[in-house]
Amino acid sequence: MSENFAAFLYLVSGVLFVLALRGLSHPTTSRQGNFLGMAGMGLAVLTTLLLARPSFGALLIIVIGIAIGGGIGAYTARRIAMTAMPQLVAAFHSLVGLAAVAVAAAALYAPEAIGIGTIGHIHTQALVEMSIGVAIGAITFTGSVIAFLKLDGRMSGKPIMLPSRHLINLVLGAVLVLLVISFALTQSHLLFWLIVLVALALGVLLIVPIGGADMPVVVSMLNSYSGWAAAGIGFTLQNLALIITGALVGSSGAILSYIMCKGMNRSFISVILGGFGGDAAAASADAGPERTVKQGSAEDAAYLMTNAARVIIVPGYGMAVAQAQHALREMADVLKKEGVEVKYAIHPVAGRMPGHMNVLLAEANVPYDEVFELEDINSEFAQTDVAFVIGANDVTNPAARDDPSSPIYGMPILNVDQARTCLFIKRSLGSGYAGIDNTLFYKDNTMMLFGDAKKMVENIVKAMAH
Ligand code: TAP
Repeated sequence: MSENFAAFLYLVSGVLFVLALRGLSHPTTSRQGNFLGMAGMGLAVLTTLLLARPSFGALLIIVIGIAIGGGIGAYTARRIAMTAMPQLVAAFHSLVGLAAVAVAAAALYAPEAIGIGTIGHIHTQALVEMSIGVAIGAITFTGSVIAFLKLDGRMSGKPIMLPSRHLINLVLGAVLVLLVISFALTQSHLLFWLIVLVALALGVLLIVPIGGADMPVVVSMLNSYSGWAAAGIGFTLQNLALIITGALVGSSGAILSYIMCKGMNRSFISVILGGFGGDAAAASADAGPERTVKQGSAEDAAYLMTNAARVIIVPGYGMAVAQAQHALREMADVLKKEGVEVKYAIHPVAGRMPGHMNVLLAEANVPYDEVFELEDINSEFAQTDVAFVIGANDVTNPAARDDPSSPIYGMPILNVDQARTCLFIKRSLGSGYAGIDNTLFYKDNTMMLFGDAKKMVENIVKAMAH
């Protein structure tokens, strides 16, 4: 295959990736987006194979590698619970980082294979790309491993504050830059591995101080890093598809991090510098004076909602854990039959990943025109009879609006407290992801419905039938 034709095919795969991202931005087109992405990747791999013309032995190794990797990927993706998706993404990103390190090392030890010179005489440009790619890849690797351990509960989600951590990170960052320059000048293999070592340490040190509540932002940021690492390696390998894909992943990850930070009203810098969540959890431990809550039953909830004119459903992480979306849709169907207007309000950071709630509601065939974003529906709570909060907590916490001392102060919230009655399904008075108490539980117009979200909704549906 000619280089020009290969470049054309790479461009086509790049366009397919862009269309895939576009498709994935809406539930109705997301399946199609997935297929376009798979087609793009298939084309890119095929083009690379046709261009490189590997020997039979090498081809066999590649096919076996793809079969094993693809098999593990397909098996994991099928088995994984929706609630565990963020840690799965973190685990996969760690592999991208590791791959970037492996590819850069291969380029260093066999430069003639990809036409960037010979051992000891590699072009300076390739050396710089290689060393930056390997540094970002190594940071992504250990950073993602720590993010995975924290998200999966195998390591405490609390921020671990090392003394003088900013200074240590700054010094390591400066050492990394010096190593990259020295490596580009000397081509020393020892310096290359020192870059890897320092970057691995930096990945751990950067992520360890970041608290649980900020972890999804970190995962998306690491996603962005892994993209830039891939793009860097793409330059070394002079592979157009890798440059395009890396840039797409890098920029979409960065945009996603930005959107999440906005949804939580946190600056990107404050997330990176870490610390959110730990103090909050400590603060909620001393609960203060005893307060009472009003507790209701499924029958109470059924009565209130069937007699309402408007109900707004606010789903959160607990709905995902309980897999209550199907029962919820059933409940909404009954209400609509009774002539009640039903809408769903989605907070941008409800659940544990962007679009988490939208995906679950779409899975339960909730009509898209009943689902509204925060800014489009927030003003309607004041004219609503019942706000039905199911497994959401932080995204409704009025402290974010009213209490400047709260760690989540400034985060936009859904104004469920302004509804005539606020029904709250959760299992206890426990806190949400940010680890802070929610004053809403103790308000006069709040009725707590304690129990598992799915069971409670099923009981409400039963009660509505009577
Ligand atoms: P959370 O504040 O985490 O609250 C979820 C609540 O669900 C918990 O308080 C829990 O209370 C309840 N719950 C758990 N399992 C349940 C079950 N089986 N049945 C009923 N209730 C159950 O959730 P949220 O309101 O969706 O807020 C999301 C949080 O994640 C925010 O702090 C946000 O900043 C953070 N975050 C999200 C993202 C994205 S992109 N979504 C990104 C970064 C951070 P009980 O234990 O009492 O049942």
